[in-house]
Amino acid sequence: MEGPVHTGSIAILDFGGQYAHLIASRIRRFGYPSYIYPCDTDPEALQGVAGIILSGGPQSVYEKGSPQADTGIFDLGVPVLGLCYGHQWMAHTLGGKVSPAQVKEYGRTEAQRMKNEKLTMKNDLFDSLPEKWTVWMSHGDEVSELPEGFVRIASTKDCINAAMMNAERRFFGIQWHNEVTHTEHGMEVLERFAKLCKPAQWSIKSYADHVGEQIKKDVGDRKVFMLVSGGVDSTVAFTLLNKVLGADRVQGLLVDTGLMRKGEVKMIEEAFEKLGINNLHIEEASEEFFRKLEGVCDPEEKRKVIGNTFLDVQRRVFDALKAHSSKLKAGEWMLGQGTIYPDTIETGGTKHADKIKTHHNRVEAIQKMIDQGLVIEPLKELYKDEVRILGEELGLPHELVWRHPFPGPGLGVRILCAKNREQGAGSREQLAQDAPYMVLPVQSVGVQGDGRTYRHAIVVFHDRPAEVTQDLLELATKIPNSNKEINRVLLCTSQSAPVKFSLHPSAITRERADLLREADDVVLHEMQRAGLYEKIWQFPVVLLPCGTKPGGQSIVLRPIESTDAMTANAYVLPSAVLQSMTKRIMALPGVDAVFLDLTNKPPGTIEWE
Ligand code: XMP
Repeated sequence: MEGPVHTGSIAILDFGGQYAHLIASRIRRFGYPSYIYPCDTDPEALQGVAGIILSGGPQSVYEKGSPQADTGIFDLGVPVLGLCYGHQWMAHTLGGKVSPAQVKEYGRTEAQRMKNEKLTMKNDLFDSLPEKWTVWMSHGDEVSELPEGFVRIASTKDCINAAMMNAERRFFGIQWHNEVTHTEHGMEVLERFAKLCKPAQWSIKSYADHVGEQIKKDVGDRKVFMLVSGGVDSTVAFTLLNKVLGADRVQGLLVDTGLMRKGEVKMIEEAFEKLGINNLHIEEASEEFFRKLEGVCDPEEKRKVIGNTFLDVQRRVFDALKAHSSKLKAGEWMLGQGTIYPDTIETGGTKHADKIKTHHNRVEAIQKMIDQGLVIEPLKELYKDEVRILGEELGLPHELVWRHPFPGPGLGVRILCAKNREQGAGSREQLAQDAPYMVLPVQSVGVQGDGRTYRHAIVVFHDRPAEVTQDLLELATKIPNSNKEINRVLLCTSQSAPVKFSLHPSAITRERADLLREADDVVLHEMQRAGLYEKIWQFPVVLLPCGTKPGGQSIVLRPIESTDAMTANAYVLPSAVLQSMTKRIMALPGVDAVFLDLTNKPPGTIEWE
C-alpha cells in the first residue's frame, strides 16, 4: 500500500482468503481503525501500527509458493493474532510444525480451553469465557508442534493445538474463524485482542473531521468537478465535498440516461435541494442513449455503447459548463470520485487473481490523473456501510443512502434483447422439453469456474406457483451442474401449467425501459411493505423479450442475499409477497409471465445482462 502507515490502527495482513475485509470491518465496528495490507508488506512500512492480525487463506504453509509475510513483523513489538492460515504460518515460521491433519475439520465443532491448573498465566483472549464453546473451522492442516515459548490455550476433538499464545510477546494463534457469526464469542475474542493493542479511536464522526481537513489540504485553492451517478457512493462524496469546500468550489454533473429507476433523479434532486446544494447540473440525455442503442443486442456491445455514450455526453456538457463557469478553468480543478475502500486495495486475495473487470474508477486515463494528483476520492478509506452512515450524518435521507447496489449501465443490463427469433439455435432441441420443465428461448450471462457462460434458463412449473420448496432449491443447483446448456433455473410464478414461450426480436427502447421501471417500482414497494428491503442484498428485476402472446414480454424477479456480490444465494421470498408481486406485475400491459430466479451465484450471475 502506498502512502503513510495508518498510525495507531490494526493492520490486517491478507493471505488471500475472503476473510480480511470481514475482519477489518468488524474491528472498525468496535471503534478502532483497521486497514488491509498485502501479506508481504515490508515491516518498515508498518511501523506505528498498534497491532497485527494475520488473516486466513486457502493454501498450505509448507507448500512451495504459498503466501508469506516478512518475519520482521514479529520485531515490531506489537501484539500479533494469527487466524486459520495466519495461525499456521505463525507456528511454522516461529519454529513449530504444521502438517496435514488426521481429520480435516469443516464447519461446526467445539473448542475447549485449557483449564487454569494447566495454564497459570493470564490469557487476555479467553479468560472468563466458558470452558467450551462452539466454533467454526475450515482447515485441512494443523499445527502439530507448537513453537518455542508458546503454550496451548484451546483444543478441539480433532485438533489439539487449536489455539496457542506467547503471553510475554502478546502473540496469539487461533485455528478457527472468529470473524464469522457462527463462532460463539468470536467477536468478543477479536475485540479483546483489539483492546490489547491499545489502538487509536475511530468513528465516522472523527473520520469526517479528519477527512474534511484532508480534503482542504489536497484541493488547496482548486475547485472540484464530480460526476454523480445517482448511486450512494458518488452522492455521499459529492455532499461531503460541498460541505467541506462550499458550493462555489464544487460542480457536479448527473447524466440522466433514461435507464435509471423510477423517480431516482427526482429523489436525488430533492435531497440536494433540502441540503441547499444547487450545483449539480442534470443533463437529460435519454434520447441520445436510446438512439445509440437502436438495434444493439449483444450484452457486451450494449455495455460498450452505454459507456461510450456516457463519455460523449460528459465531455460535451463539461465543455459547455467550462465555457460558462469560472469554476472549471484549465489547471484549476480536480476530478472528484466516489471510490470506496474495497475498490482500491490490492490485497493477497486479488493481487494474483486475473482481473475480471477493471473498476471504472481505475481505468487508464483516470489512473494517469491520479498519478498527477488531479483526483480526489474522499471516501476511499470507507466501507459501504460506513459510507451510508456518513451519508445520513451529512443529512441525506435514509432511503437514499440505504438503497440496494445498482449497476453503472443501469436498467441497460436488465433489459434483455434478441436479434433473431431464436437464440443459441440448435441447443434447445437437445434438451428435454418435458413438463413440468420448459427451456426458455433466451440466454443470459452466468459464471462457472472462473469463466463466463452465456446459456439458456429452464423454467419449472408447479401446482403452487408462488411456493419455493427445498426441492426446487436443490433442482436449481442440480440442473446447471449436470446440463451444459443451462445456467439458470426459474420458477414460473404466474402460471402453473407449462406454456410455450416465443422470442421477439427487440433491443433497448424507451417503451421497454418504461415497462421495466414500473415492474421494478412494484417490486421496490412490495419489498418495503413486507419489511424486506434491508434483508435482501439486491433485487434485480429483468425484462425478457419473450412471452406467450405475439409481442408479449416476461419479467424475472431475482432477489439475492450476499455480502460482497462475489457469490450470492437466491433469497427465498415469502409466498404472500411473491403472490402479490406477481399479481401486480401481471397487471402491467404487455407482461405475459413472471418468473422467480432460484439460481445461486455461481452458476448464475446477479445480473442477467
Ligand atoms: P454480477 O452480475 O457480475 O454482478 O453477479 C455483481 C455486482 O456488480 C453489479 N454490477 C455493476 N456495478 N457497474 C457497477 O457499478 C457495472 O457495470 C456493473 N455490472 C454489474 C451488480 O449489480 C452486482 O451487484
